Amino acid sequence: MAEPLNVWDYERLAEEKLDANALAYFAGGAGDEVTLRDNLAAFERRKLRPRVLVDVSSVTTATTVLGTEVSMPVLIAPLAFQRLAHAEGELATARAAAAAGTIMCLSSAATRSPRECAEAAGEGARWFQVYVFSDRALTEELIAEAIEQEFAALVLTVDVPYLGRRERDLRLDFRLPEELEPYGERLKGFDATLSWRDLEWLAGYGLPVVVKGILTAEDARLACEHGAAAVVVSNHGGRQLDGVPASLDALPEVIEAVEGRIEVFLDGGVRRGTDALKALALGARAVLIGRAMLWGLAAAGERGVTHVLELLRAEMGLGLSLLGCRSPAEVSRSHVT
Ligand code: FNR
Repeated sequence: MAEPLNVWDYERLAEEKLDANALAYFAGGAGDEVTLRDNLAAFERRKLRPRVLVDVSSVTTATTVLGTEVSMPVLIAPLAFQRLAHAEGELATARAAAAAGTIMCLSSAATRSPRECAEAAGEGARWFQVYVFSDRALTEELIAEAIEQEFAALVLTVDVPYLGRRERDLRLDFRLPEELEPYGERLKGFDATLSWRDLEWLAGYGLPVVVKGILTAEDARLACEHGAAAVVVSNHGGRQLDGVPASLDALPEVIEAVEGRIEVFLDGGVRRGTDALKALALGARAVLIGRAMLWGLAAAGERGVTHVLELLRAEMGLGLSLLGCRSPAEVSRSHVT
């Protein structure tokens, strides 16, 4: 293929590169994959409302998330087992994110340690995603390492008391190759007793806690009341409860419930800079990309992730200009149907 022009091109390259086992794991969703598909369709349903004759000779995609400057409101979602996509795995992602001036969330189920990723990221900002495993002591060990390695926020994933039923994996009897010692998965089993009180426990570490996996106004309010610094409106990329709304469709009720108290992020289905603009228009501070970055990683390692980030930033910059906005802050509710 000629030079990839967009994330879809990277998806096709990744499909050619990955074996069936890895592809099923990365691409698949839960149940009938209705939510997986709807995450994408929701972006197609919403239309942008551009304003014209605005001086857009100087446009920036830069913004801040939780007080940290980023080159664009596109962060990297936590994704498990990245060495299944590329030999360098999370290290390639960490380097690409740092070079692009954005934030990488390292998964608790990564195939590289927080220390290794911190070294790869250098000065680059990084957040650590927390799965609370049934072995709380080992969970705490991981958090301690992340804090020591200067991860700046803890992202608590709350939509996985149990793993969703992903039938593509079941059909192929998906197993992680033995040489990929996952960093948290050895802990086996999530803590299904996890409750709002545990959010306060996690906030006790002193880092901002981002609650990932919120889909309702009710839970958004509870997150605010229990000390969350931000929430991620997310259905885990359609991999947990099938039949829930697309993330983009759940965003407005969360924004309304939060009433500006904390920042709201979104992930699920973001494949274009203009998708990010739609989320911003509905009130998100930033979006996170999962599979979009994974396809870059699988196709070309660090270079692929870097290029995906460049493409999204360019699409966003042009999209902002054509929308009549000079910065992410100027994107408002009136810019989307
Ligand atoms: C994920 N996701 C995820 N989330 C999390 O909190 N911890 C994790 O370890 C993982 N692992 C993971 C692996 C794979 C292969 C996928 C596709 C997803 C969910 C992820 O952070 C994010 O919510 C979604 O990927 C967003 O949807 P898109 O961007 O993939 O459409």
